[in-house]
Amino acid sequence: MEHQMLKLVELTLEMEPAYRQFLADLERERSGMAQRWLFEHANEPYPELVTKLQDWSVGKQLSKGRVSCSTLFLVDDDGKILGKVSFRHELNDYLRKIGGHIGYIIIADERGKGYGTIMLKLTLERAKPLGLERVLVTCDEDNIASAKVIEKNGGVFENKYYEGENPVPTCRYWITLKQGSK
Ligand SMILES: CC(C)(COP(=O)(O)OP(=O)(O)OC[C@H]1O[C@@H](n2cnc3c(N)ncnc32)[C@H](O)[C@@H]1OP(=O)(O)O)[C@@H](O)C(=O)NCCC(=O)NCCS
Repeated sequence: MEHQMLKLVELTLEMEPAYRQFLADLERERSGMAQRWLFEHANEPYPELVTKLQDWSVGKQLSKGRVSCSTLFLVDDDGKILGKVSFRHELNDYLRKIGGHIGYIIIADERGKGYGTIMLKLTLERAKPLGLERVLVTCDEDNIASAKVIEKNGGVFENKYYEGENPVPTCRYWITLKQGSK
């Protein structure tokens, strides 16, 4: 499909209507990931959320055990939010095993149109200036769409991580960032 001018942006005060619609789109979906994001952010006053996400991106106001994280939204020509990505700037023990540097979601109605692949590509471009040589991206073993998104962005499978209470193993992939080509 033809892609319009998609942008990966931080949340701004002006984006509140689009953000509310994004939450409503997630609300309709009952998947664990959509619900987790709603649970974390839905009831927060919007201006505080905008400030908090900005703070997190520069390592401020982090809860214990959290690392600096950019929260970015894939937006189309009309300003509609198609998806969201969390880009953790470094790994802690949990992220190294399971979470990885980057986690993402595309709203259910917009899946299968290439947006997940593009969103990860745009995120990798954002990651280069941080000087990382490679990033870890993970997905559940049964998440075929996510595995394809990772592989189409150059992900090289390293291994599966098995954790006692998690019924599905986590597949761990590394993506090498080519420095110098911003
Ligand atoms: C994973 C996710 C972000 C992929 O986004 P997307 O926009 O649908 O991905 P794309 O359209 O770029 O598709 C990438 C590939 O996956 C394939 N794909 C998409 N949905 C699929 C599905 N349900 N089953 C199998 N393959 C699928 C596409 O066909 C494409 O492969 P192709 O290029 O060989 O045709 C999206 O499915 C999602 O938000 N899922 C819920 C949240 C989630 O699982 N996040 C990732 C956690 S690791």
